[in-house]
Amino acid sequence: MDKLFINGGNKLYGKISVNGAKNALLPVLAGVIMVDGMVTLKKVPKYSDVLAMCEILSNLGAKVNWHGSDLIIDSSTIEEHTITSQLAGSLRSSIFALGPLLCRHKIAKVAYPGGCEIGLRPIDIHLNGLRVMGTRIVEKNGYIYANGESMEGCDVTLSFASVGATENIMMAGVMTRGITRIFNPAKEPEIVDLQDFLNACGAKVSGAGTNMIYIEGVESLHGCIYEVIPDRIAGGTYLLMCAMCGGEIEIENFLPYHNQALLSKFSQSACKIDIKDDRIFVSSSGRLDSFIDVETAVYPGLPTDLQPQIMALQTVSNGYCLVVENLFESRFKHVPELIKMGADIKFRSNVCVIKGKEKLYGADVNSPDLRGGIALVMAGMKAEGYTTISGIELIDRGYYQIEKKLAPLGVDIKRIEK
Ligand code: UD1
Repeated sequence: MDKLFINGGNKLYGKISVNGAKNALLPVLAGVIMVDGMVTLKKVPKYSDVLAMCEILSNLGAKVNWHGSDLIIDSSTIEEHTITSQLAGSLRSSIFALGPLLCRHKIAKVAYPGGCEIGLRPIDIHLNGLRVMGTRIVEKNGYIYANGESMEGCDVTLSFASVGATENIMMAGVMTRGITRIFNPAKEPEIVDLQDFLNACGAKVSGAGTNMIYIEGVESLHGCIYEVIPDRIAGGTYLLMCAMCGGEIEIENFLPYHNQALLSKFSQSACKIDIKDDRIFVSSSGRLDSFIDVETAVYPGLPTDLQPQIMALQTVSNGYCLVVENLFESRFKHVPELIKMGADIKFRSNVCVIKGKEKLYGADVNSPDLRGGIALVMAGMKAEGYTTISGIELIDRGYYQIEKKLAPLGVDIKRIEK
């Protein structure tokens, strides 16, 4: 297993560009299952989760090819309707394939999904929604057997605005006879992006990003050329890195209106932020006053996917900060690792209190999950001395070649291949 080796203490200078969003690409790749034709996705980073989703598509029978950074998928050859536990277990997004497989074949057999271990992560809201639409579902031996022959458009009200369930049910409605309306949907930008992709393929979806999504079933979908939105979590991560380490950077391909909750946290801070269209200029001394409190929420609230990175910044800010995690039960696994590096953090259940310290110190730490892992990279960049991070295959799920991305900013970081 590879490791990252960081010699900390450098400030950041230069320009960094945000790649396409992992959380937009994964549902779009599931949506490709419904298409009868060729889809070209432009400028796709080879996140390991994207590669895993490509493997799922290949196993279903699609022809998947890379042309530079363009991903070209011919899904007209998809015949299979099964996703095995070996494939599904590698990522959470395998469950997104359920709705599209039902549209394509009327039957699907999908193993329970894997993914980062940040909580229980049930799929009841996905399955309930599909059941309301008329799908017969049997759960047996780790598999979901679904039969969608009686599926019809109808009203589906989600008990919680789950991102994945919204995407799954939205896709299930795309080729289902009649009108499907989703009430209490998630409103994340990635859901609007999925709507845009599906409509580019001939679907009739509207309302994504509002309180109700409206889907008129169509007979078929055709191919298209599409580029997903920039990754707001990666963009936010780079901003937090500069705030924490100090320096002056320009972040390109950063959509400020996707990151309002994070940007508002900086309005009272000494970190200077200038926004010009889709570019943001950040300058920081590297020692800010603590954010008073940080509470994760569904969009447009503060994303849970930025909670570990914000916590890393708070470990070296001036004063106390309270962090409340409201989305996932086990999303503080980075805390013991940050403590190994000298952070002062007390935690109970879903609340942490962080007392900012002057310094962190390099240590051998282990990445517990994707975002917790990048928070450790940040801590290593700030710390005095050397930090070695293992478990970095989890970071590779959503940050492509992070060491190559950060080195040009002056970060002394290397990947040690085993
Ligand atoms: C997506 C993102 C993930 C992000 C999360 C919350 C992708 C690929 N992943 O994950 O990066 O952290 O949104 O913004 O886009 N829940 C249920 N039952 C369900 C579904 C969800 O109880 O059927 C619960 C979950 O356990 C969790 C909460 O709802 O507590 C939010 O989950 P959800 O919005 O579904 O997140 P994901 O789609 O898994």
